[in-house]
Amino acid sequence: MPHKAAVKISTRTSPLAEHFEFLRGLIASPKGVGAIAPSSAALARAIALQADPDQPGDVLELGPGTGVVTEALIARGFRPERITAIEYDPEFVRRVRERCPGVHVIEGDAFALDRTLRPEDSGCCAVISGIPLLNWPQERRQALIEAALDRVRPHAPFIQFSYGLTPPMPATDRFEVRRAAVIWANLPPARVWVYRSR
Ligand SMILES: C[S@@+](CC[C@H](N)C(=O)[O-])C[C@H]1O[C@@H](n2cnc3c(N)ncnc32)[C@H](O)[C@@H]1O
Repeated sequence: MPHKAAVKISTRTSPLAEHFEFLRGLIASPKGVGAIAPSSAALARAIALQADPDQPGDVLELGPGTGVVTEALIARGFRPERITAIEYDPEFVRRVRERCPGVHVIEGDAFALDRTLRPEDSGCCAVISGIPLLNWPQERRQALIEAALDRVRPHAPFIQFSYGLTPPMPATDRFEVRRAAVIWANLPPARVWVYRSR
């Protein structure tokens, strides 16, 4: 009987293939993707560093794209089963499921958490957002941050990266914001912002 060699299909993609995959998403939705490339490994690490796997609760990721930050969260020590990701592009949904088995990936709208999540999906230790907030009016940014902070434990962070010099949403009576990192090794250089309820 001919020997059948086991074929191992790698779920890893080359950086170039991943870039093309990202560009496909950008062409499909310029406003929603809002970047020319996935976050660099340095930026993904800096974002993941702001979430603490030793804290109780799961982590919620909004807009995982090709899954670079999801992967950095796992490298940081989050079991995949502790990560829920919400992504509205079906191809990116498929990609993150393939790249990060065990992560709960929901195809849905991060701006409508009440519809996308169940009421019991709360008490998170962090929410991480890759949504390009600057592409939406300030009221919608504020609403998204407030809805996300409603899903975290007291004083747990909402973590957002952006390419601007100032936070994509200033502090309000409801939440404070601080700059946690500047990542020059990203194209373009990016800042990591951490929001917390007051
Ligand atoms: C700038 S990309 C960030 C991707 C990835 N987090 C990274 O750092 O490389 C924005 C991502 O948010 C997704 N997105 C935009 N609006 C969304 C929405 N309303 N609900 C869910 N995902 C959304 C896009 O499809 C895209 O994957």
